[in-house]
Amino acid sequence: MKFFEVKGTIGQTVPRVDARAKVTGTAPYGDDHPVANPTYASLVTSSIALGTVKSFDDTTARTIPGLLKIFTHHDIGHRIRPGKTMLKRGHMATSIAPLRSRKIHFSGQIVAVVVAETKEASRAAAQALKVEYEAVIPSATIGSPGAKLTKPGAMGDTEIKVGNFEKAFLNAEVKIEAEYETPPQHHNPLELFQTTCAWNGDELTVWESTQSVRGSQHGLAAQLGIKPKNVRVISPFIGGAFGSRGELAQSTALIAFAAKKLGRPVKLVISRREGFTNRTFRAETKHRVRLGATREGKLQALNHEGWELTSRADPFALAGIESGTRLYACENIEAKVHNVTADRQTPGFMRAPPEIPYLFALESAIDELAYALGMDPVELRRRNDTMIDPVKGLPFSSRSLLKCYDEAAAAFGWAKRNPKPCATREGDWFIGWGCATAMYPAQIAPATCRVTLYPNEKVLVETGSHEIGTGAYTIIAQTAADQLGVPLANVKVSLGDSRLPAAALSAGSSSAASVCTVVAKACLKIRAKAKAGTVLKKPIAVLAKNNPEGAPRFLGPFLIGRGLAVIVPGHSHKKHVQYAFGAQFVEVRVHRNTGEIRVPRAVGAYAAGRIMNPRTAKSQLMGGQIWGISSALLEGTEIDVKLARYMNADLSEYLMPVNADIGEITTLLVPEEDKLVNPLGIKGLGELGIVGMNAAIANAIFHATGVRRRKLPIRVGDLFSGENLVG
Ligand code: MOS
Repeated sequence: MKFFEVKGTIGQTVPRVDARAKVTGTAPYGDDHPVANPTYASLVTSSIALGTVKSFDDTTARTIPGLLKIFTHHDIGHRIRPGKTMLKRGHMATSIAPLRSRKIHFSGQIVAVVVAETKEASRAAAQALKVEYEAVIPSATIGSPGAKLTKPGAMGDTEIKVGNFEKAFLNAEVKIEAEYETPPQHHNPLELFQTTCAWNGDELTVWESTQSVRGSQHGLAAQLGIKPKNVRVISPFIGGAFGSRGELAQSTALIAFAAKKLGRPVKLVISRREGFTNRTFRAETKHRVRLGATREGKLQALNHEGWELTSRADPFALAGIESGTRLYACENIEAKVHNVTADRQTPGFMRAPPEIPYLFALESAIDELAYALGMDPVELRRRNDTMIDPVKGLPFSSRSLLKCYDEAAAAFGWAKRNPKPCATREGDWFIGWGCATAMYPAQIAPATCRVTLYPNEKVLVETGSHEIGTGAYTIIAQTAADQLGVPLANVKVSLGDSRLPAAALSAGSSSAASVCTVVAKACLKIRAKAKAGTVLKKPIAVLAKNNPEGAPRFLGPFLIGRGLAVIVPGHSHKKHVQYAFGAQFVEVRVHRNTGEIRVPRAVGAYAAGRIMNPRTAKSQLMGGQIWGISSALLEGTEIDVKLARYMNADLSEYLMPVNADIGEITTLLVPEEDKLVNPLGIKGLGELGIVGMNAAIANAIFHATGVRRRKLPIRVGDLFSGENLVG
């Protein structure tokens, strides 16, 4: 592999090239695109979780002025195909197709789409439509009657086995065993989920914020039974993705179908409440962790079992044990994921999907082991650090975890910590300091692009990747400016259109590595074509493709062209494994009378290979730290277990932090050079910053109060026993 030489624009702290457009409101998001003669759709969703639709009564709905049409399963049926889920090499978030039949699979499933001349009219008619159901008692969650484990070996089950755990655990001098739990969490990006569909003859154009324009293009074509070349999906700016827009939702094809039937464009903006059930979510999980160590703190036995919820229809696999089992030197490891099905919508990806629940459990357990050993938790991690992946026996491409601990601990002032729990107070506040590890695989996908150099030294970069808020436009422009030796202002980047050269789904923190690599490759080709010292007379345009090691041979660019997810995981390479690491430190304060929990400060240090732009990188990591606080203390969807229905599906009841909840956040970048991951040495960091924060906070709460909480979120009431604050 040739390591690209970097000249200077890469790595600079430059402001986002799209900053002005965003703050002045000229950057077009999904619903911003105006269409001629639009109509407006609203959804009707099921109030039961399991059963069938018996009948509709539209007597009142039909009287609403401006109503155009109510689409139900009578109108749709088999005219739209369900499509395959992404994990089954399709494009969909779920195979559960609403309006295909009268069957209801989960609470909040679409049972009708109402289209009218105005949004107000469609909403009024949707509210007036009466639906009669035949309800069956549903199973709500893991442990509910009727919730079932999938058959062993079914998709979604993952198992890792090294050495002999049971024997080593039995003989270990110090051991701990504990169970942990994480709640369902729902995507609430700033930009509401939306779709605008317009037909021109047989050609469909869709404006929808998505992490995969190609995936939506091909998925829609398959669902509607039309040619992919007749579908164009446009998504130049996205107001928050985080996995919520990774796969195609079932609602899009319904809107495309309605637009075709009515012969007019249809716009749909999904409400917050509907977003809770018509997109994916982070499913609830349960864990059992057992750790055994010598008195000196050498880990000898590690066992992590996880239970994850999925729908009846679709297996869903986080494979959450892949990361944590590679974190510590240990000769005896056993880990397993179980899938549990219930009557719920199919879950999906949410920022660091596997690591958030699984590292909460593991990094809490490591902290428990540190107390059992009477050892500083940082020292325990130091004693078990490894440059060799204990699962595969392969070296890490690079690993700077201890450097991250050194820098973060120094900045935090960890050395001043009184190790005793419940021993540090300031007035009425118990003060606790906790830490945990962040890790995330360095992943990469195939990509293609076209780069054009004009005689006036302007450059156009075209690739079907996406700006999901991470700074993609900026770092791609930096790459081209750097590699072609032109000013940054000369580079224009086009993203988010299925007609552009294909790039993969923007997910798994893989886009920086995938797209910057192929853009640098294109620039190299241009440099070879443009003779040094001569003046260009006409533009030079080159197409480049990159198919990274580990992707299907030769086929990577072809597959992403068809919108299929091809992301090479960090543990799948032949000679090494590749992960980014970080160290999370937090201070919590717990009020002795009210149990109020505050997080006045957090310090994180992260090493993720080459940093393309410290400004956008820190923004990603800091956003992760903040979401981590939210994930530990606030967020959680409540389920009515009798109805299998979400009880807090709106922003007044689904808790999220506001500015006043967030104290001082310090984000440190630890320099790291990695010559194995890809030719620019990029590991990716979109997800890294959130990982481990939940455990660091739970660990700090234990240090503050002496109370160990193993179930998230941890709230005021969880720290009381009777009338008194525990501890
Ligand atoms: Mo992200 S959860 O990989 O879209």
